[in-house]
Amino acid sequence: MSGRIPQHFIDDLLARVNIVDVVDSRIKLKRAGKNYSALCPFHKEKSPSFSVSADKQFYYCFGCGAGGNALGFVMEFERLSFPEAVEELAKTVGLEVPHEHDRERDVAKEKQVKKQFDLLEEANQFYQKQLRSHSEREKAVAYLKKRGVSGQIAARFQLGYAPPGWDNLQQHIAKEQADADALLLASGMMVENEERGRRYDRFRDRIMFPIRDMRGRTIGFGARVLTNEKPKYLNSPETDTFHKGRELYGLYEARQNTGTLEKLLIVEGYMDVVSLAQHGLTWSVATLGTATTDAHLERIFKLVNEVVFCFDGDAAGRQAAKRALHTCVPVLRDGLMARFLFLPDGEDPDTLVRSEGVEAFSQRVNESLPFSEYFFKALSEDIDLTSMDGRARFSTEALPLIRTMQVSVLQQMMMDRVAEMTGLSIDQLDTIANLHAKVEPPVQFEAESVAPAPQRGYFESKPRRQEQRFEPVEQVRSGTRINLVNSAISILMHRPDLAAQAVKPEELDGVLLENIGLLKALLHYFQNTPDASLGTLALDWQHDPELMPNLLVLNEISQLDPVLSNVDAQVLLNDALQRLVARKTEKQLRDLTQLSRERPLTSEEKVLLATLLAQRNNSQ
Ligand code: UTP
Ligand code: MN
Repeated sequence: MSGRIPQHFIDDLLARVNIVDVVDSRIKLKRAGKNYSALCPFHKEKSPSFSVSADKQFYYCFGCGAGGNALGFVMEFERLSFPEAVEELAKTVGLEVPHEHDRERDVAKEKQVKKQFDLLEEANQFYQKQLRSHSEREKAVAYLKKRGVSGQIAARFQLGYAPPGWDNLQQHIAKEQADADALLLASGMMVENEERGRRYDRFRDRIMFPIRDMRGRTIGFGARVLTNEKPKYLNSPETDTFHKGRELYGLYEARQNTGTLEKLLIVEGYMDVVSLAQHGLTWSVATLGTATTDAHLERIFKLVNEVVFCFDGDAAGRQAAKRALHTCVPVLRDGLMARFLFLPDGEDPDTLVRSEGVEAFSQRVNESLPFSEYFFKALSEDIDLTSMDGRARFSTEALPLIRTMQVSVLQQMMMDRVAEMTGLSIDQLDTIANLHAKVEPPVQFEAESVAPAPQRGYFESKPRRQEQRFEPVEQVRSGTRINLVNSAISILMHRPDLAAQAVKPEELDGVLLENIGLLKALLHYFQNTPDASLGTLALDWQHDPELMPNLLVLNEISQLDPVLSNVDAQVLLNDALQRLVARKTEKQLRDLTQLSRERPLTSEEKVLLATLLAQRNNSQ
């Protein structure tokens, strides 16, 4: 097959496959906390430095630097070209790979989608008309009145009424559309009973809430019963035009009816949005029976800088809040705000705004918890920060999350706060966070730099330092340079298994170069610790006041490492060590020569001199 594979297909494919399954079906993965690990299939190694992150849908080998997504893995592992790898992966999820010259089919598809939009709009108009004129309209009107919805607000939200009966909409559409059934089925307005093949309107005897996209086109419906029957709400299914994880009920209306839209309140229900608008709060939206997704947040933050999540005060509400918190973490950056509002148990925005009025409700919104405050509250909830264990647990939970934030003043301030709460220094926390990240696949940083000022009155303290706290790997913080010692260290960090065949640390005694002590300590550690890895080293050294500073240096060196080709690592390491040993020879030779000018050498010194000269000749 030739022809370009459209990007949207590749995105879709990657969204459907799970890299953990893709890798696991080829090499056995072992669970390691949140991630999975294995011996790297791309280079020879004895202890696993290859890991797969389900969260990030990414694999990475600490040993050889290989890394990428599921497609990249299949390409590398199966030695396939890109299109071949796409074919291979698509097969596993039952997708057919489209190619650019399927343009005719795309055009047909577009036509079909356009027809669906038209049909949904027709249905919307139909339901609104029923609310005005159907013989049973009174009970629907009475219901809306009971819920405090005025005619004006009903019109603004284009509320409608699906009358009782199995085929009202079908009959209406069939009058003008030849392929009415096919369209009704495709747009989710009609249901087909699989056993008997009977077809009927999905929505019957319900208040209709049309869901509109950003352009105001009707893309689906929510529908409420007028009684206490179950299910209370029915919703359109996922279709070509309707994606619950991306759409927000009320967003179109909020934009239409709010002077300048500055923030959005995210609530749970259709009626909450309508009721808040009824009381003058026009800037609320509801997720469609799902949790807030990152797609939601991306959409929201393109429109406004502030979002307030609204939750019930019960356990389920707190659970949902935590989920929203996690969704926010990677999305927030300077200038963007998220707040968390918890309502009294048993209340929702609709009941509250009706009972206490919009002023009191707005007051609650204004007093809601800023993201950072809720973050620390939620994370330290069940942790005793007065105990050392508690503080350690807290930092290991908070740091990885903070690390996935975009580089920002906010991120720095949150690091400061962790430092405050745990009593650890920023450098220590950096080290822990960075080393943690070394054993996990690296986080992708956006090229964004630090924005100048924190938001107005949002945070109490000023940031202590302004430079980026987590540098992308290419950046170097201090004067650490690649030299013989550092490159030997760097190789050992990537390939601890090479230590076994390297020189003993004592052979470097007498070499006086920066970081030589660290190199010796690394050799010693990797030669004497069974199953040693960089991870075990980090754990072992972290709590040792003498060794802990080494981790800081390792961190710096890891940031300058040139990614090694595997073939060369051993040769490079031995070469570097040999040259260091030779340096020692040179230095001792120089010292002895110098000494011999000042006084006659002792007989021991003479023997040493001879040995050193012989060594040098041998190594040349
Ligand atoms: P709630 O059960 O909290 O109801 O559902 P509500 O919004 O307060 O409804 P009212 O006030 O009784 O009218 C919140 C949201 O969850 C989805 C809907 O999106 C609803 O708005 N939901 C709820 C359903 O999809 N189906 C249901 O049966 C119930
Ligand atoms: Mn309600």
